[in-house]
Amino acid sequence: MNTYDLARGLHILAVIAWMAGLLFLPRLYAYDAEQQSKSEPLKSEMQGLLRLWQTRVLRIILNPAMILAWVFGLWLIHIDVSARGPGFLAEPWMIAKLSGVFLLSGWHGFLSAQRKKIAAGTSKYSSKFWRMTNEVPFVLAIIMVLSVTTEWTFG
Ligand code: HEM
Repeated sequence: MNTYDLARGLHILAVIAWMAGLLFLPRLYAYDAEQQSKSEPLKSEMQGLLRLWQTRVLRIILNPAMILAWVFGLWLIHIDVSARGPGFLAEPWMIAKLSGVFLLSGWHGFLSAQRKKIAAGTSKYSSKFWRMTNEVPFVLAIIMVLSVTTEWTFG
């Protein structure tokens, strides 16, 4: 076993947890939005429970997993730079990978900000919006995973 393989394994595990949270949280937001049409006291009871889960998914899974994915990803960059120089960071596959990483981190930030708005009752997004955007992280994951596994290039 070498350090690079260990960092790669830990990176993939953190990414799995991050993706699981990113795919699950918008489901909870969709169910939350659907409670609007319910009558009291069921509406408040359901929203209370869903909002507790939203907070837990963010605090227990999403935030730690994102931090670890970044830590192990930056560790991989450090090992890669020592092994093959910084040039790979400018290769198209790595630019695509890093663009995906920034978009995914931005999506994470958006979901995190929305949790607060949902709790305050000021979110303007519908259940349909959350269901439609649910696949965003997976589409980004396809780009990111295939970029690093194929190291594609133009021509
Ligand atoms: C959070 C910031 C991230 C950074 C800084 C980062 C950086 C890296 C680096 C430098 C490598 C090694 C590339 C190589 O030399 O082959 C790598 C590997 C990998 N990354 Fe990331 N990554 C991040 C997030 C992600 C995400 C979100 C995904 C998937 C959704 C992902 C999937 C992978 C996979 C599958 C590998 C293993 C590729 C292989 O061993 O062939 N990474 N990452």
